[in-house]
Amino acid sequence: MEIPPRPALFDFHGVSMTKYFTENWDNIQDFKARPDDILIASYPKAGNTWVSYILDLLYFSHVSPDRQEVVPLHERVPFLEFYMPGFPSGVEELNQSTTVPRIIKTHLPVQFLSKSFWEQNSKIVYVARNAKDSVVSFFHFDRMNKAQPEPGDWSSYLKRFMDGKMVFGSWYEHVKGWWEKQKSHPNILYLFYEDLIENTEEELDKLCSFLGLSPSSESKKQVMEKALFDNMKNNKMANGSADAVLDFKISPFMRKGLPYLVVVFVYKSSSDFFGAKFYRCSSLIDQKLKKKR
Ligand code: A3P
Repeated sequence: MEIPPRPALFDFHGVSMTKYFTENWDNIQDFKARPDDILIASYPKAGNTWVSYILDLLYFSHVSPDRQEVVPLHERVPFLEFYMPGFPSGVEELNQSTTVPRIIKTHLPVQFLSKSFWEQNSKIVYVARNAKDSVVSFFHFDRMNKAQPEPGDWSSYLKRFMDGKMVFGSWYEHVKGWWEKQKSHPNILYLFYEDLIENTEEELDKLCSFLGLSPSSESKKQVMEKALFDNMKNNKMANGSADAVLDFKISPFMRKGLPYLVVVFVYKSSSDFFGAKFYRCSSLIDQKLKKKR
């Protein structure tokens, strides 16, 4: 299938977006969520695929083991706002889905989410990742993803990231918007990528208790094993290689899966999000880096 030229970035209700996430806007806004839907929301490159895979394993590995072997993860966990001619849209895939629960991926900033998710009280797992690693991961992703705008060179890319001129807008606004929302919304579980790396089992327990699941310790062990970075990276159904718009000659989708030491400092807000939780997650990374040196 011929992939069209890379799309342009434009302002969409105050957020930078491309046509692939806005052209189906009315259907996205009118999407009918269900009370048993589970939405995984994140800014791009925060570990959405990882959490999607974990949830898919938790719900379906014992019911339908074939699902993991033959169906690519992006079909098992449709991307709500995705709309590209020649491919089924996220909304279409979800409307046709017969699985219960439907596990749904989104990168929408909180103010753009279809109202129905709030009305139906669907469960939402938000994943945040520190800005430094997010921007590095996003840069490499944009290099290899032909459905994203041209990334240009690293220094101009970093400047654009800090200015919020990325697809799905500003990282700061995204993580903060969802953080504010979860304060008054018990159906949002706000997770951190760094915690998932640091304490996978604890975070898995948190996820299960939020979702009302009680897997045996044997199944939990299996989920954790399958969702290890190297195992996912070698799994063609989970490593992005089944996705036609990704060019693996430029970069793998799953690159390192670890915090990096990048000499940039991009925090610029003093809201309580950055002051409290996010600070903790940055210091975890710093400790990890110290151990590595
Ligand atoms: P890197 O590019 O830093 O390697 P998303 O799924 O939201 O696009 O996030 C992609 C990032 O999550 C990539 O980061 C990818 O490697 C990382 N990731 C995916 N699966 C992972 C896993 N099992 N363990 C750790 N990191 C994982």
